[in-house]
Amino acid sequence: MSGIVNTAQAEAWNGYEGEHWAAHDDRYDAVNSGFNELVLDAAEIGERHRVLDVGCGNGQLTRLAARRARIGWAYGVDLSAPMLATARARADEENVSNVTFERGDAQVHAFPEAGFDVAVSRFGIMFFADPVAAFGNIGGALRPGGRLAFVCMKDVEGTDLGAVFGAMVPYLPTPTGPAGTGPTSFADPARIQDVLTAAGFQDVACTHVEADQIWGRDVADAAEFISAWGPIRFHMEQAGPDAAAKARDALTPALRPFETPDGVWLRGTAWLVTAVRPGPA
Ligand SMILES: C[S@@+](CC[C@H](N)C(=O)[O-])C[C@H]1O[C@@H](n2cnc3c(N)ncnc32)[C@H](O)[C@@H]1O
Repeated sequence: MSGIVNTAQAEAWNGYEGEHWAAHDDRYDAVNSGFNELVLDAAEIGERHRVLDVGCGNGQLTRLAARRARIGWAYGVDLSAPMLATARARADEENVSNVTFERGDAQVHAFPEAGFDVAVSRFGIMFFADPVAAFGNIGGALRPGGRLAFVCMKDVEGTDLGAVFGAMVPYLPTPTGPAGTGPTSFADPARIQDVLTAAGFQDVACTHVEADQIWGRDVADAAEFISAWGPIRFHMEQAGPDAAAKARDALTPALRPFETPDGVWLRGTAWLVTAVRPGPA
């Protein structure tokens, strides 16, 4: 590990947030796995490729990338020790041997210069204090002509998730934080374009993508999971017990329209972003 500059993020992802993700990787993968093939296809991973997964978390995308790069390998980097422990355990269980995981801050981590053919991420690149520096560092890890492909959050307004969150809004404090930070820091495609261009990438493209997200077995299960999810739990604690109980109750009718015999399904949206490090392919 070569230093951590995103200290608040490191605290969160090594504290409650990361512990919850690490203990419930199956739940978070049920929410996000619909985006896997979209990212992996866009990354154009070849069987000999060396793949970097940025903010790999519990490592599902890293393991799938490693399967595509069957003569090459995949390497996941993440701030979160508990999630990396889950990632390693799952790789062992699934007998994926061409994968390694390391703790590090992708913004400053000492990656091998031009050591990767491809960099991917599933919602792991939205939390950098200095995104231009971070993507500059990731770009330096790619060989000239190397490809970047990731999904990041869009604004949830007007989406299924927006409707569910909207039901809790009257009872929870308005989220605050420096502009341009947090999970929706890359919701504006113009910002994505600016950041990646300033970081030295070219051919930046942002495409709207959608995937089904399974949030729980039924409404009660989904409401419990969403209430325990780090950012929601944080805002419930800020609101106090009475308001938190009302926010929790508001989830039930909000989730009901999405309940099916196979679970609570929301249609998730994201930006699929691709870019290239300049140089001969
Ligand atoms: C929303 S989670 C996504 C995890 C995983 N990619 C997935 O799809 O399940 C965001 C991840 O980014 C990681 N992360 C945030 N900032 C990071 C940084 N500066 N360097 C490395 N990882 C970071 C977190 O620890 C967390 O695992």
